[in-house]
Amino acid sequence: MNSHLPIPAVVAAIRPLAVDTSLLTLHTEPGHPVASSFLPGQFLQLSLPGVGEIPLSYCGVPSRDGSIELCIRHVGHVTTPLKSAAPGDAVGVRGPFGHGFPLSAYAGQDLLLIAGGLGIAPLRSLLLTLLKQRELWGRLTLLYGARETGALMFLDELLEFQRRGVIELQLTVDRPGYCINGPPECRVALLPALLEQLALEPGRTCAAICGPPVVYPLLVSRLRLLGVADDRIHLSLERRMKCGVGLCGHCAVGTRLCCVDGPVFSFAELAGIEGALV
Ligand SMILES: Cc1cc2nc3c(=O)[nH]c(=O)nc-3n(C[C@H](O)[C@H](O)[C@H](O)COP(=O)(O)OP(=O)(O)OC[C@H]3O[C@@H](n4cnc5c(N)ncnc54)[C@H](O)[C@@H]3O)c2cc1C
Ligand code: FES
Repeated sequence: MNSHLPIPAVVAAIRPLAVDTSLLTLHTEPGHPVASSFLPGQFLQLSLPGVGEIPLSYCGVPSRDGSIELCIRHVGHVTTPLKSAAPGDAVGVRGPFGHGFPLSAYAGQDLLLIAGGLGIAPLRSLLLTLLKQRELWGRLTLLYGARETGALMFLDELLEFQRRGVIELQLTVDRPGYCINGPPECRVALLPALLEQLALEPGRTCAAICGPPVVYPLLVSRLRLLGVADDRIHLSLERRMKCGVGLCGHCAVGTRLCCVDGPVFSFAELAGIEGALV
């Protein structure tokens, strides 16, 4: 496999998840590693012919039939045209790239997933993967925050997992007033507030975090106060990327490269790196 060369893919389906975000399902060569062999937290590079290429987190689970789920927020020159993509449209994909969440280290542990905004994309991939072998893990808790209820994505799916008792779910939104017709037990508070009343066993809890970098310092300091060790806290960092394969240096985090060493790092790895969390 040449990791610099995209392979062809077509849009299989696109559906809105929120006013500015869609779930894009692609179909590519069955059995190709870009669709069949990735860890949650890894990413691919999606290219739109004649427009550009961007990194996107996997949002679903690996598939042998070549299908790939991506959650796309339409913000710029590559992501905006994708809003009007239609089944059959051609794109390119290459990957998987980077390091994902350390599934093997999670065996037998309680998992605390913390998602803010679009951070739900890789954490949905992690959650679906964990649920495929639910018996391997202890408590599964998802804390998920968004700016308003309309921006909470995959709600039906998440509430169904909660109803079946396979996960514990806590939701929050930033702005008061938007919760009136929202889902049950949706708090109005910033994401780190959900950690305040959380009872966890720090010695057997691993935290997986993806969200806006601005909340990372507070989340990490609250987890440390609760007694969770730095090597049990994993965060996904987002940096501007170009090559995606460690050649251009665009995604540097101190001496580490987000595209090859990350995007998922343990806090123990980042602790000495100035500016790593911003
Ligand atoms: C490892 C990794 C994983 C990612 N996973 C996802 C994912 O699953 N889904 C997803 O939608 N995006 C994801 N992103 C971000 C995605 O790559 C950017 O949104 C994308 O590069 C924007 O490309 P563009 O050409 O459309 O925007 P540009 O034309 O490059 O940017 C246009 C404007 O939008 C701003 N902007 C760019 N990105 C964002 C953003 N995310 N939110 C708000 N404003 C922004 C820019 O600052 C600029 O002002 C990921 C990035 C990385 C590094
Ligand atoms: S994106 Fe080029 S080195 Fe990371």
